[in-house]
Amino acid sequence: MKKILICGAGGFIGGHLAKKFINDKNYQLVCADIKPLEYWFQTFDSAENHCLDLKDYNNTLKVTKNVDYIFNLACNMGGMGFIENNKAECMLSVLINTNLLRAAIKNKCEKYLFSSSACVYNGSKQNETFIPGLKETDAYPAEPEDGYGWEKLFSERMCRHFTEDFGLETRVVRFHNIYGPVGTFDGGREKAPAALCRKIINAKNKNLKKIDVWGDGEQTRSFLYISDCIDGMLEVFNSNSTEVFNIGSEEQVSINQMIDTIENIAAHKVDKNYQLDKPLGVRGRSSDNSYVTKKIGWKPKTTLKEGLVKTHQWISQQISSGTNIDKFCKSNIEK
Ligand code: NAD
Ligand code: GDD
Repeated sequence: MKKILICGAGGFIGGHLAKKFINDKNYQLVCADIKPLEYWFQTFDSAENHCLDLKDYNNTLKVTKNVDYIFNLACNMGGMGFIENNKAECMLSVLINTNLLRAAIKNKCEKYLFSSSACVYNGSKQNETFIPGLKETDAYPAEPEDGYGWEKLFSERMCRHFTEDFGLETRVVRFHNIYGPVGTFDGGREKAPAALCRKIINAKNKNLKKIDVWGDGEQTRSFLYISDCIDGMLEVFNSNSTEVFNIGSEEQVSINQMIDTIENIAAHKVDKNYQLDKPLGVRGRSSDNSYVTKKIGWKPKTTLKEGLVKTHQWISQQISSGTNIDKFCKSNIEK
């Protein structure tokens, strides 16, 4: 039996990963997150759950004891609204990765996965809409997203050097805008798919026609559904490759096109109030999966429409039930 540690298990991706492992008799699960347990998005009684700050070395030593595999999904992050306005906070997550890597060596852990981001990619390659997908090699020469992207790029390199210098097996995945049920949808950290589902649901519920949209809506992105993200991450983890891989979708759409899809799902048409002074990020971004498909065999299965149907349905249920809604809408990391 292998002992697995999921860092950031109280969050969106960490919660879904814990759910994947919890009933597998081959694994014993340790979950860690800085938030109080009642704010974790998903919790499992049979896991060993720890609420602690993983920026602290002593805490990383505690949770990695006798652990074989570490999944580091802990990070103080969010969508554009958060990362553009909290660059120092984002960079402080470097302490999580640094201390977890040190603790992994000290406690002789076998394998370590770091969750990096498409925000590491060179900004000058993302100045147009509907750009070609970003290849793994497009991260260099380095010009990542200020703050958050630099932290991710630095941490990726630290993984590489811990492998080279100390023999720790590391895996690095670059996630491209992951969305789906049981994630943040309000409060400032939410990303575009959840934010726009919420805005259209609220408009319909209140019989309103207008929603706010950041930018001119022509900026492009690709969005990856959570189940594909979990499968891709595990396939990279179980592979023999220590290279860095994209885990993203190649289905690039403009924000206006995504709004059209959500309007159809919601059966509610809206007018758009374009807010050009809001955080916008890069002009265009998408993933090129040719390398990860060739080396690992992974590619996403869920279309954007299929994923948005499920996401819209879940957010709609949360809003109408109103139960426990705070934990998906408030920034409660420092509580
Ligand atoms: P999330 O915010 O839902 O989850 C991250 C979790 O980390 C939170 O529950 C938070 O409380 C916890 N955390 C933050 N600081 C901590 C600390 N000091 N100690 C312990 N726990 C701490 O985010 P997510 O969407 O699940 O993202 C998981 C990982 O994937 C992160 O590394 C993120 O940067 C990366 N990523 C996510 C996306 C995406 O679109 N969701 C895209 C690119 C990269
Ligand atoms: N969040 C949000 N909310 N974005 C909106 C909204 C809104 O109501 N309306 C329009 N947008 C636009 C943003 O201005 C941006 O141009 C685009 O939608 C996508 O925004 P986000 O989903 O917030 O972030 P991102 O794709 O720029 O970056 C995200 O993905 C990275 C990985 O691909 C972030 O979550 C990063 O943290 C992540 O690493």
